[in-house]
Amino acid sequence: MTAQVLAAGGPAKLFIGNQWQAAASGATFETINPATEQVLAEVAEAREEDVDRAVAAAREAFEQGPWASMAAAERGRLLLRLAELIERATDELALLEAQDTGKPITDARRVDVPLAAAVFRYYAGFADKVQGETIPARGAFVNLTLREPVGVIAAITPWNYPLLLASYKVAPALAFGNTVVLKPAEQTPLSALALARLAAEAGLPPGVLNVVPGFGPVAGAALAGHPGVDKICFTGSTETGTRIMEAAARHTTRLQLELGGKSPNIIFADADLEAAIKGAAFGVFSNMGEICTAGSRLFVERPVHAQVLEGLQRAIARFRQGDPLDPSTRMGPLISREHLERVLGYIARGREEGARLLTGGERGEPERGYFLRPTIFDQVRNDMTIAREEIFGPVLAVIPFDDIEELIRQANDTIYGLAAGVWTRDVRKAFTAARRLRAGTVWINTYNMYDPTTPYGGVKRSGFGRELGAAAVEEFTQRKTVWVAL
Ligand code: NAI
Ligand code: MG
Repeated sequence: MTAQVLAAGGPAKLFIGNQWQAAASGATFETINPATEQVLAEVAEAREEDVDRAVAAAREAFEQGPWASMAAAERGRLLLRLAELIERATDELALLEAQDTGKPITDARRVDVPLAAAVFRYYAGFADKVQGETIPARGAFVNLTLREPVGVIAAITPWNYPLLLASYKVAPALAFGNTVVLKPAEQTPLSALALARLAAEAGLPPGVLNVVPGFGPVAGAALAGHPGVDKICFTGSTETGTRIMEAAARHTTRLQLELGGKSPNIIFADADLEAAIKGAAFGVFSNMGEICTAGSRLFVERPVHAQVLEGLQRAIARFRQGDPLDPSTRMGPLISREHLERVLGYIARGREEGARLLTGGERGEPERGYFLRPTIFDQVRNDMTIAREEIFGPVLAVIPFDDIEELIRQANDTIYGLAAGVWTRDVRKAFTAARRLRAGTVWINTYNMYDPTTPYGGVKRSGFGRELGAAAVEEFTQRKTVWVAL
């Protein structure tokens, strides 16, 4: 697939109006394989002028093209074909994603690619099930609503699940008749280009999906502040999300933001401890902790504290670290040197502030690549930096608790509200916690579960709007009210 994205052997191009194009400036940038620290590919770098071209192509496809006016079932048929092409390309896509992000190829094959295909398949089936309402307005009128697409959607995605998080945005946007300009993260631009190639192969008309790799402050900022964009959907840091809101305000552009998290994962003493410990380790160490919903604050009820710590040490031994392309690897490197330094900075801060480093905290094997050992801090207080800021790495903060009121207060004492986990056998406790935790998702006796049918998003500074499920109809359509006097 790397070879196919780099069709002509030269740098990978931008994808605008179903054509592979060099950047207007001729600029290119390198994407790195974080496991080898080697250049993986050279990619055309979109800047303002290229973003303009991509938005114009999306606009034309929306206003004049067959896309928005085509029978919804026909759009569904094309997206179903795209889902099939993604599935058929699982090996290639997983390899590309593993090389560009450093994630274990086993995860890319089992999670990223099949789930992306499932998301396209789900919205392909949804395309012709969206409908308006008739409304009993007073007087002699027929009053009804039409559900119309929003228009040109700007999708700006991060580097942790590049293909999957693109699919969360692109699939519903296209199913409901919008057109898209996708800007993947500069660290991981390749799978978005592969998606573009497959979309063209599936028969999507020109301009329906455009992909413009480039840097956040240049291509991303140009897209976020573009008057030709009708809606922005973004996944990434809260800081960048705030900047995007400011840019969007200039043209009153609609927004949907899925931002950071500092999710509490709570183990009560009456939990199935074996499952809880496994879930806690999986919750924060899978994908190297580079997950917005990472269960990075582990609240453990005091009577089982020692037992949970012991279990966690055993559980992390199973997170084999190494070459992401080795199928037995469970943990790859972090995304970049810069990010590794940032995470190491947090670890130093945790020690300074008096948390007890139980395991990890240092660079892992092999020597080349941005590897970091799974790290556990015990005796963390909820006001320490490592319990307050999103680390986005394999760093777990264990916070013992005695009392449920105190627990809920601390769990909610965060600027974020993306997710939470609760482990208990007591159904009353589970539901009480589920109601009182301020989070977009609460998992009970499980963690990090996703499905195309199920809405996903945050509260507080974790953002607003919901991806996936029927919730996406609200996000990617708008109502038009029609009054007919009788
Ligand atoms: P970021 O949020 O800056 O990057 C995400 C996307 O936004 C990328 O496509 C980037 O090019 C784009 N972007 C950056 N600045 C922009 C701007 N001014 N206007 C428009 N688009 C812009 O995340 P970054 O810098 O890669 O990572 C920094 C930290 O953010 C991480 O360490 C992590 O804590 C957090 N993060 C959280 C994610 C999440 O899903 N919650 C995902 C990625 C990062
Ligand atoms: Mg890369």
